[in-house]
Amino acid sequence: MTNRTAKISTGSGDLTYPLLEGSVGPDVIDIRKLYGESGMFTYDPGFTSTASCQSAITYIDGDEGILLHRGYPIDQLAEQSSFMEVAYLLLHGDLPKKNELEEFNYIISRHTMLHEQLATFYRGFRRDAHPMAIMCGVVGALSAFYHDSTDITDPQQRLIASHRLIAKMPTIAAMAYKYSIGQPFLYPDNSLSYTGNFLRMTFGVPAEPYEVNPIVEKAMDRIFILHADHEQNASTSTVRLAGSSGANPFACIAAGIACLWGPAHGGANEAALNMLREIGDVKRIKEYVARAKDKNDPFRLMGFGHRVYKNYDPRAKVMQQTAEEVLKELKLSDPVLDVARELEQIALSDEYFIEKKLYPNVDFYSGIILNAIGFPTEMFTALFALARTVGWVAQWNEMISDPEQKIGRPRQLYVGATQRDYVPAGKR
Ligand code: ACO
Repeated sequence: MTNRTAKISTGSGDLTYPLLEGSVGPDVIDIRKLYGESGMFTYDPGFTSTASCQSAITYIDGDEGILLHRGYPIDQLAEQSSFMEVAYLLLHGDLPKKNELEEFNYIISRHTMLHEQLATFYRGFRRDAHPMAIMCGVVGALSAFYHDSTDITDPQQRLIASHRLIAKMPTIAAMAYKYSIGQPFLYPDNSLSYTGNFLRMTFGVPAEPYEVNPIVEKAMDRIFILHADHEQNASTSTVRLAGSSGANPFACIAAGIACLWGPAHGGANEAALNMLREIGDVKRIKEYVARAKDKNDPFRLMGFGHRVYKNYDPRAKVMQQTAEEVLKELKLSDPVLDVARELEQIALSDEYFIEKKLYPNVDFYSGIILNAIGFPTEMFTALFALARTVGWVAQWNEMISDPEQKIGRPRQLYVGATQRDYVPAGKR
């Protein structure tokens, strides 16, 4: 930290505030005393210029297209690491040593089962329930089953709750899928990897052995890594805000899942694949690009644009490469991949997209891979939630341990009626 300051000029004079310096990235004006000293708030809908917390987990430089987890570039992690290793890194701050990773894998594998009564809970949902509806409900309900890890003031309980959430999420997501297609739930098999186990619980059946395809397992694991955390995005901020009141971790993660569901956030991968299918043929791309540019048409190119990245989303690059690999290995050809490649080229050379700095985001190619692996589109956001749970719990733990943490309570610019007297119904 330095002694640099920033001046804010108001009608009644200048106010001086400390300028905080992170390890990298923009400086931050510490305006915590602004209201007390001036009686004024700042106005920032969508928090485009607001740092809501200090964090040492993830760093993004949107202009340069850089994403680092605890300092490590996402492409190195996606290429060389595993989801379990990244989970450890996000939670604990450093990459695990060999024995630490073995122990972490062991702990996570010992928390994969759900309380048996939770299976009954599933049966309360309609068969056609969206998996995200089930995920919100079941994850929230975990707080009713695991009372021994809901005391957030106890770091040990927080760690157990974090392990439980990371470990149970694949079981919960796979069960949501099985329920929707009317197949029996499969119990976890702890001899498999985190990702292999998830694939088996999703695509296996009790009637026969399931063989995990190592190519698919690797691709899925990479997709999980690419979705593991992303700084203070909408769902992570939701988890932090819910957690700031002292709510238990299961309830907080359920809140994050609800936020992630929206098409502007986690729901975009589902929307992107639906859009690519709707376009269907490279010949129709021009028509859709024109629609995306038309101010009178609400249509947007799904999987394009990002609040923070004003350059290529580094995750999209890895995702595109993975899509090519998976389709090749599975000997599949998908016309949707041709549409995606061509659409990307056309959009990236179009003045509208160049000027607004709209590039493909992580969701543009992920749907193609998930579809090739065999997931229905409704499952896409559930997979995102599964992976992002790691980031959510890491951010939640960081927040609870932060001595500067306060209950989140934004203020407002009030534009409603001023005080007026009540008039009885008959006299209005
Ligand atoms: N297609 C066409 N035009 C777009 C698109 C798009 N996908 N995205 C943004 N624009 C335009 C807007 O119309 C706006 O134009 P204007 O300045 O003339 O009004 C300008 O670009 C800026 O867009 P905003 O919506 O103001 O940017 P914001 O940062 O608020 O939104 C968002 C970012 C929500 C991701 C947006 O780009 C979008 O809706 N993209 C499609 C949905 C999507 O892919 N979401 C996934 C995000 S990644 C994730 O959550 C994992």
